[in-house]
Amino acid sequence: MSKRKRYLFVCVNRRPDGTPKGSCAARGAEDLHAELKGMLKERGLANTEVRACTSSCLDTCWVGPVIAVEPDDYFYGRVTKADLPEILDAFAKDERVERLVLSPEDYVEPKELKKQGG
Ligand code: FES
Repeated sequence: MSKRKRYLFVCVNRRPDGTPKGSCAARGAEDLHAELKGMLKERGLANTEVRACTSSCLDTCWVGPVIAVEPDDYFYGRVTKADLPEILDAFAKDERVERLVLSPEDYVEPKELKKQGG
């Protein structure tokens, strides 16, 4: 196996149901990761271009499911399976899907969640 151009870290952390901040797994991240892996394989990108890994909590739970894109150094958030073709098309062009890229504000936990104890 060769070093890939990109490594995607899909947070699959799960918290108990009812936790105010929720978790990526509760928002479908495990299925999302499986679908992503399958699509990379289908497109022939898995062994050379992009590896889809799982991750523990990336501390942006409120905008999950979250995917950290390295070494590009940005996060995708609120990702659904329907977004994956567009994300992979963008990688092929060395572009990113701007509407899914987290803004600096997205990294800040909303006050109402903090009050509820996260
Ligand atoms: S549970 Fe996924 S970022 Fe925290």
